[in-house]
Amino acid sequence: MRHADEVKRALVQAADAARFAPSIHNTQPWRWVVRDGALELYGVAERQLHEQDPSGRMLLLSCGTALHHARVALDAEGWRHEVEYSADEPLAVIRPVRQVPARPEATRHFQMLQVRRTDRRTVTDERVPEDTLRHLAKVTKETGSRLHVLGRDQVIALAVAVDRAQHAESADGRLVAETAAWVGGERAEGTGIPASALPEEVPLTTVAERDFGTRGTLAAGGGHDRAATYAVLYGDGDGPEDWLRAGEALSALWLAATEQAVNLLPLSGPVEIAYTRRTLRRMLGDVGFPYLAMRLGTLDPAHSAPPRTPRLPAGQIIDIVPG
Ligand SMILES: Cc1cc2nc3c(=O)[nH]c(=O)nc-3n(C[C@H](O)[C@H](O)[C@H](O)COP(=O)(O)O)c2cc1C
Repeated sequence: MRHADEVKRALVQAADAARFAPSIHNTQPWRWVVRDGALELYGVAERQLHEQDPSGRMLLLSCGTALHHARVALDAEGWRHEVEYSADEPLAVIRPVRQVPARPEATRHFQMLQVRRTDRRTVTDERVPEDTLRHLAKVTKETGSRLHVLGRDQVIALAVAVDRAQHAESADGRLVAETAAWVGGERAEGTGIPASALPEEVPLTTVAERDFGTRGTLAAGGGHDRAATYAVLYGDGDGPEDWLRAGEALSALWLAATEQAVNLLPLSGPVEIAYTRRTLRRMLGDVGFPYLAMRLGTLDPAHSAPPRTPRLPAGQIIDIVPG
């Protein structure tokens, strides 16, 4: 095969693998263009949550997870590549440089990409070990963001912030209508969160899971979150490019957590509302900007995970420019 054809094939495969990436309400707000031996990433305004996420923070975090997933797929094929970032469109351009034998950890990350999912069942009473938390913090740092693990007092403050953010969002009629359009039911169109991924009832935990305003069919388990670890993903800047890069770190962290059998549940509510975002910022000692709060914990392996959430078909999100 000609070199140019090999590169093109690898880029299409990478964009295809990125379909597995997590996104806010499973909006999958990205689009790819394969052009001139490079892969261009674009945000898609029609799949932005304009009421919940007017600044595009969550959209860009989601595009960042897709960007990282595409890079993991290239790494798994041994493709060394460069990435050019931009605060504008395209958000990023990936250029493969040369192919080398794939590293075993790259293959493992690619496998994790296929099994990772958001699991909203309650966690067990088994804590995530300290050295695992240290490993996750290291992975996050290597991808350009940082992870702040909350102490006991801060968990209470997080619970209050989550609650306030939930109240603010539930009182906003337009936002509630927007959520209802993306969440619940069977999601035959390939986007959104199906009922099968949502708890039958929002579990009674200290820090509440997001209340999507609709009941699902997932048996969440009667557990609590006493042994859960709460953390905040954060970094130095608070602009569009920072959010995109934070999404890459979220993806790296989530794949590493999956590999360690640690369940990661994002809690984005307190980041979406300005005053609870300030609370998170204070929790970080004002040394950085919060991108996402999350729960880390272990799940009972005896019970099966929720089924995979749907994805848009490749043809709808990947354009191949001939040449
Ligand atoms: C930036 C971001 C924010 C998210 N926020 C939440 C949240 O607040 N609550 C929640 O239950 N899930 C949250 N999720 C998980 C998404 O709903 C989930 O990734 C999506 O539905 C696709 O499902 P999957 O992760 O199982 O592939 C978030 C995901 C991302 C990427």
